[in-house]
Amino acid sequence: MKKRIGILTSGGDCPGLNATIRGLVKASYLLMDCVFIASLNGFEGLINGKMKKMMSAHFSGILMKGGTILGTHRTPHKNMRKIGPDGFDKVQAMVDNYHKYDLDCLVCIGGNGTHKNANMLKEEGLNIIGLPKTIDNDIWGTDITFGFQTAVNTATDVIDRIHTTADSHDRVMLVELMGNKTGWLTLNSGISGGADIILIPEIPFDDDAIIHALHKRHEAGKDFSIVAVAEGVKSKIESKMNKKEFLKYRAELGYRYISERIADMITQKTGYETRVVIPGHILRGGSPSAYDRTLATRVGAFGAKMILEEKFGYTVSLINDRCVPTPLEEVSGLLKYVPKDHHLIETARLIGISFGES
Ligand code: F6P
Repeated sequence: MKKRIGILTSGGDCPGLNATIRGLVKASYLLMDCVFIASLNGFEGLINGKMKKMMSAHFSGILMKGGTILGTHRTPHKNMRKIGPDGFDKVQAMVDNYHKYDLDCLVCIGGNGTHKNANMLKEEGLNIIGLPKTIDNDIWGTDITFGFQTAVNTATDVIDRIHTTADSHDRVMLVELMGNKTGWLTLNSGISGGADIILIPEIPFDDDAIIHALHKRHEAGKDFSIVAVAEGVKSKIESKMNKKEFLKYRAELGYRYISERIADMITQKTGYETRVVIPGHILRGGSPSAYDRTLATRVGAFGAKMILEEKFGYTVSLINDRCVPTPLEEVSGLLKYVPKDHHLIETARLIGISFGES
């Protein structure tokens, strides 16, 4: 009997999604008699019955392609169990469609939100396997996710380019980078791009400490500076607020991006000219790096082995450069933050990078 394997990509896309799909499919075709059924645009397909039988030709030539050939969508976990006004039950619809399409298992490729939904479907009795991806590198239990290294390369390139113009104009340039609530992307690319100040959510910043670091550079004859800012940063004051207070405070500040608030503060306190650069989704686009192609292929191929062994209810973690299965419930709902004693934070401090701490 042909194994019927469901597959979806959910949440924000990242480079390497197609490479992992290819790794999964190629290994599965060799390991077992199987057919792939795609849930289009993430969980939306499974909810609304938008499913597509995939042929091997669909998976051809996708290794180096950015994005995802299956489409993706954000389907927040917190809304999954909310019943629609018409009585529509999304979770029941997914369970029903899983059975309607006679799936033997469903492979959910995604980040934190996807893993929460995957775990929920596992608890509903479905055979689920998770494959972790994200440029944020914030998935609990795995050392690194595919997509991350490509995004670090792109962010480094952005910072490199900002360097020359910052130098020419004697400006303080702030580069705000994605990463959600964690600072992995900003810390790594801040170091590789040669930022002078790195602000990450794990280390709340202090305005005066940023000013002090900038003055020190100017006193040393450096008339320009690069500040790498993670989108999720909070000031020391903000870090003591609860969520409601924080959202109100930010709304009252009236800035869309935190870097703009920091840039204005710098200009007011120093008179230095500032500019803000926000690469945004550029960090998610484009072809995966060689490293990410290989990592994504490994993760996908390992997923195929898990299907063969019927190891359901697990995701794939990369620990000490080895793929290992980790129970979905261990990963679901947890974020991997940058530890305060991380070796890269130490390295940055050793070479004089400021984290804007007082
Ligand atoms: O999780 C990946 C990510 O790119 C985050 O870094 C960022 O905060 C978010 O997604 C942006 O999401 P969207 O594509 O929905 O704007």
